Amino acid sequence: MVGNIVIANRILAEPMATQSFDEDGVPTGKTMEIYMNYASSGVGIAITEHHAVHPWGRNRINQPRLYDKESASYLLQVTDLFRRKHIPVIAQLNFAGSMTADEELLQAKHFEYVSPSGKHSPRDVIAVSPRALTKAEIDIIIESFANAAYRAVNFAGYDGVQIHCAHGYLLGQFLSPMTNRRNDTYGGILRNRARMLYDVVSEVRKAIPGKLLSVRLGMVDQMPGEPTKGLTVDDTARVAKGLAALGVNWIGLSGNHSGFGADRNDDCPYFAQPAEVVHEAIDGEILIDYAGGVRSKKTALDLLEKNVCEIVGIGRLFSRDPNFISKWREAD
Ligand SMILES: Cc1cc2nc3c(=O)[nH]c(=O)nc-3n(C[C@H](O)[C@H](O)[C@H](O)COP(=O)(O)O)c2cc1C
Repeated sequence: MVGNIVIANRILAEPMATQSFDEDGVPTGKTMEIYMNYASSGVGIAITEHHAVHPWGRNRINQPRLYDKESASYLLQVTDLFRRKHIPVIAQLNFAGSMTADEELLQAKHFEYVSPSGKHSPRDVIAVSPRALTKAEIDIIIESFANAAYRAVNFAGYDGVQIHCAHGYLLGQFLSPMTNRRNDTYGGILRNRARMLYDVVSEVRKAIPGKLLSVRLGMVDQMPGEPTKGLTVDDTARVAKGLAALGVNWIGLSGNHSGFGADRNDDCPYFAQPAEVVHEAIDGEILIDYAGGVRSKKTALDLLEKNVCEIVGIGRLFSRDPNFISKWREAD
């Protein structure tokens, strides 16, 4: 049971950017094919790729968006694929901040290249320096997350939303001391660096009462084996507790400025160690989904048995072997 929704199993389809939408945010044939595969996979619950909540928050030109009613309504055809298979589906909401990937966006109308304090993130690909957000702009972004959540549920047919605070995007940039050097109430101590996330979550909760609300939390700024820097796992455990108190239904755990482990193709749950620390600290207050390096049924079951998470998230295996869930079932 997640929120008030019963899920058929503990496998979750993690958000995966498809780069398949057109420049107006309309799903193409390729989009429909990809999401049809997800909807037919037998997964317990799905999160679709990151959707831009504001024109300034786009990561790519061909990204789905939820910043106006019309764009939201295009997404009905995607959610309908899941609805027909009785699979709950939520939209991931994102504001890219300095992690914009398409240089072309810098020339686009209605676009500003921004970050918490005008600093680049370690994984940025754009050479131009981002501009620091003003307090008034922070308020606008918080409101845009809430409005996007409302549209996701009321115009696009989603069962809820996930707030993207991982992989070094804007909310993860606020959380990490590596990229947040603000000296107002949104910077400095952890409570202040988490304020933007908490404000977003509180407003989104109000916008979609009773609907599913998840946060994807980047736990650390380095990959396992690298020297510790920036955000610590203890910081993340405290933030996770704060989120539990705000009515979030579950937290997805991944990396922050480390990224998600793009070069890890082996069957090895590389973020399991920090995830276990967070899971233990929150002591059952909120459900956890873990993702990163799960390629086999054995690894998935180990994570559940070792109490790393309640739900196992899968990313790349869906594109490599869309039928893996039925194969895992057959192996029972
Ligand atoms: C092509 C690609 C696109 C991705 N897009 C997103 C995304 O939109 N949002 C997100 O939170 N994570 C995204 N991820 C990260 C995945 O959700 C997942 O965390 C990562 O692939 C690790 O899990 P895996 O080892 O099961 O693939 C993406 C990963 C890949 C490879």
